[in-house]
Amino acid sequence: MFVPGLIERKRDGSALSPGEWRELMGAYAAGQVPDYQMSALLMAIFLKGLTREETAALLDGMMASGSRLDFSALGKPVVDKHSTGGVGDKVSLVLAPLAAACGVAVPMMSGRGLGHTGGTLDKLESIPGFRTNLSLEETRAQVDAIGCAMIGQTPEIAPVDKKLYALRDVTATVECVPLIAASIMSKKLAEGLTGLVLDVKQGSGAFITDPERSLTLARTMIELGEDRGCPTVALLTAMDRPLGRACGNALEAEEAIMGLRGEGPEDLKDVTLAEGVEMLLLAGEKDRARARRRLEEALASGKAAETFQKIIAAQGGDPRCVDDPSLLPQAEAVEVYYARGAGTVLRVEPRAIGRAVVEMGGGRRKVEDAVDPTVGFVITARPGQTVHMSEPLASIFARDAAGIELGRRALDAAIEIGEGKAAPLPLIAARVTAKGVEKPIP
Ligand code: URA
Repeated sequence: MFVPGLIERKRDGSALSPGEWRELMGAYAAGQVPDYQMSALLMAIFLKGLTREETAALLDGMMASGSRLDFSALGKPVVDKHSTGGVGDKVSLVLAPLAAACGVAVPMMSGRGLGHTGGTLDKLESIPGFRTNLSLEETRAQVDAIGCAMIGQTPEIAPVDKKLYALRDVTATVECVPLIAASIMSKKLAEGLTGLVLDVKQGSGAFITDPERSLTLARTMIELGEDRGCPTVALLTAMDRPLGRACGNALEAEEAIMGLRGEGPEDLKDVTLAEGVEMLLLAGEKDRARARRRLEEALASGKAAETFQKIIAAQGGDPRCVDDPSLLPQAEAVEVYYARGAGTVLRVEPRAIGRAVVEMGGGRRKVEDAVDPTVGFVITARPGQTVHMSEPLASIFARDAAGIELGRRALDAAIEIGEGKAAPLPLIAARVTAKGVEKPIP
């Protein structure tokens, strides 16, 4: 295959054929296409886009590069949830055990922190001993035994996505609707799901910041899922401020545990329950109100927290963290951050917060960087809140005084206090299915 010819056609805005995409993905998986050619092609895709047919062919080529899990022997609905990425988004840590406690099989495959966003795997690994690199065999056995496994992308699942993703991360080609859609769906569809819930983030902290384009992203992923026999539902949720209060790996694990114990922040609970309802409906529950009751009961009875303990123990972690979150790693330096003025909190900018967590050591600048699980923020200030001068708005968790200073400067930039009214996005703006868009959600 003559790759420069394909790059040239894409660069000039033509569509490549499905056969060309599949062949190209196969050749890239086999190491026959160098990264410099693939980088040029990615940039051409970024600038010219892909047709619906091309996106589907790209996805099929990516999936064909790896294996597919098969849970049909379980005789149970197999449903997962995936977020397009945000700051403070620890919903997966609450939702996976919660849905499993309600009888759904959840083979949750997640990613690491990327850019300014955090990753579920890094949050889970802040639990001492927790192992996310289960083999497909171990994953199957664990889902069978306790209803849920929380793992990273194995080498067998969509290996081309893994390579492409790493390349996109360093070639400024992440924020592209068809590339994000094919990347996410190549992993999710390989899980052999009977249903999928997508949390598509909107706002300045999301990868796709424009609300119209985030709707296009949701629709594209739904179409890819439905066309391949996987009923898919998306909720469009707010990422113009962090979700919950905690941002940073161990801090978020702790907040997720509080959520499982029914003591978490309201917005975390609302998004978790809304996505949980969709998971249960996809798993066969007919009644929306009953789905919500089942989830609330699993939280109130302690069954969801117990399921998380079982998952932690099965994956080598210390399950006592659920009863005693002080067993999670703790930061060396902690400082309270106070309001520098009085008025209304107009904005809590998630991108600045997410970037600061990375800079303080809580994320990676290079793939091989180790992550410090202890650093981050707990931010109690919310858009719309009235605050007084010197009122505590957040806590900064860092390795040392330099980290505290970095955190303080980030909060100065992220938290805007002034006159007037805050205009935050609705927490859950819409429910999107193959049938259309529902606003407000039912
Ligand atoms: N998450 C993914 O898995 N892929 C993307 O492209 C973006 C977010």
